[in-house]
Amino acid sequence: MKRNILIHPDPRLKKVCAPVADLSDALRTLADDMLETMYEAPGIGLAAPQVGVLDRLIVLDCIKEEGATPRPTVMFNPKVVAASDETNVYDEGCLSIPEQYGEVTRPAVVDVTWIDRDGNQQSETFDGLWATCVQHEIDHLNGKLFIDYLKPLRRQMITRKMQKLKREMARG
Ligand code: NI
Repeated sequence: MKRNILIHPDPRLKKVCAPVADLSDALRTLADDMLETMYEAPGIGLAAPQVGVLDRLIVLDCIKEEGATPRPTVMFNPKVVAASDETNVYDEGCLSIPEQYGEVTRPAVVDVTWIDRDGNQQSETFDGLWATCVQHEIDHLNGKLFIDYLKPLRRQMITRKMQKLKREMARG
């Protein structure tokens, strides 16, 4: 089932999310719903607070090539355990901040650990778009948005645009 994506500014997007203790059917359903919502948007990553759930859960799939096999990835309690000194700049966007983009500098390579959809501990080294995306999504679990990396004036401008967008959406 598709879920509603919260638009910035929203207090739920500023919260630190709680670790997931035990995987339940409800959490697996939430993960599946988030993947469906992400693909539908379309986007390459989505974090649980973006659908109003303050649990440490993200989903991502950075396979964008036409005809390539998708790689739907579910991460409970994801954690960056090592990061390269080498950095990468990417023009980031966010499903909670539609049609706004900004350059963010992040470590180019990160080692990430997480618990997968079946409850198994996983770890993997990510680079390229996967590295950028997984760091962006983990930021969401700590109440941080990509615009928090931008200069204050640019951030305020984007926030005002989003406030206007939300007013228009509320009016229908
Ligand atoms: Ni985002």
